[in-house]
Amino acid sequence: RSNEKESMFLVSEYAKNYFSDILWNNEKGKAIGLSYFKERGFTDETIRKFELGYSLDEWSAFTDAAENKKYEIEFLEKTGLSIVKDNRKFDRFKGRVMFPIHSMSGRILGFGGRTLSTDKKAAKYLNSPESIIYHKSKILYGIYQAKQSIAREDNCFLVEGYTDVISMFQSGVENVVASSGTALSSDQIRLINRLTNNITVLFDGDAAGIRASFRGIDLILEQGLNVKVVAFPEGDDPDSFAKSRSSEEITEYLTSHSQDFIQFKTSLLLEGTKNDPIKRAELIRDIVASISKIPNNIQKEIYLQECARIMNISESVLFNELSQILKREN
Ligand code: CTP
Ligand code: MN
Ligand code: MN
Ligand code: MN
Ligand code: MN
Repeated sequence: RSNEKESMFLVSEYAKNYFSDILWNNEKGKAIGLSYFKERGFTDETIRKFELGYSLDEWSAFTDAAENKKYEIEFLEKTGLSIVKDNRKFDRFKGRVMFPIHSMSGRILGFGGRTLSTDKKAAKYLNSPESIIYHKSKILYGIYQAKQSIAREDNCFLVEGYTDVISMFQSGVENVVASSGTALSSDQIRLINRLTNNITVLFDGDAAGIRASFRGIDLILEQGLNVKVVAFPEGDDPDSFAKSRSSEEITEYLTSHSQDFIQFKTSLLLEGTKNDPIKRAELIRDIVASISKIPNNIQKEIYLQECARIMNISESVLFNELSQILKREN
């Protein structure tokens, strides 16, 4: 089994180098893949840093090249790079720009491939399938490039997507990783927690992004980490936001818009409650429910105080509510 893993890592490493070579040196790779990344504003340095690549729009260009180099079809198939059907071999990522996904120590676990076609039926991103080396709930895109900066800054920015990581990094915010569109998992939080206790959630400024950040916040609190949130203007994600702004403007926005989770929830939800007392009460219960997830009692108390102040309600009422929630759960 460890041999099997090793062979899968070797094939993945080869694939990363192959796709990168196509991007930089093949005529079609340059005209299609490299131009695409340049149009998105990525510099040569950034493209090399993240080892981006291109998979030719041919049925089996990659698989053929790999087999010529004596990589076995068994492992090409197990990593999902090749698909075998009716004794014919196909490239999974045909015609896509490639984002290799590194482990904390820099091994290639899998790939995300973005379509360049505007056809709405094509999935925008295709990812490696689950395997003994690729567990999507345990992967954080960018962790290899970000780890030193996360430790140094003692904070980790968490975004949704591949290009959000890359754009932020290029703008000088290097302590950034992506959950890659899946619901944040406790394994992913534990991975971050090896480097820092502080997470700042930077999800897309759309309904899905807000929902995902609410779920993420509770999970982060449950694991005993500190969580802050930066909301983006509606319709923006960190990548689109960074596009038209300087590094200074981005850093300044992140600093001045960083809220703790109580401020974030109240500011978003209060809009909808107006002065309706029933909705206000629901909001307060919602926040206390989040607070109840925090394992540390002193932290619980501090957040209760803040909630009492913002919602203009007595702390003892909140404390009772908290006790009830905790009782119900035990
Ligand atoms: N994602 C995925 N499969 C999809 C759509 C999204 O795996 N069909 C993941 C990708 O990791 C993607 C992330 O979810 O980066 C966020 O999705 P989305 O916001 O839709 O894409 P962006 O990252 O903004 O992609 P782009 O800017 O290239 O359009
Ligand atoms: Mn798995
Ligand atoms: Mn989105
Ligand atoms: Mn997005
Ligand atoms: Mn985007």
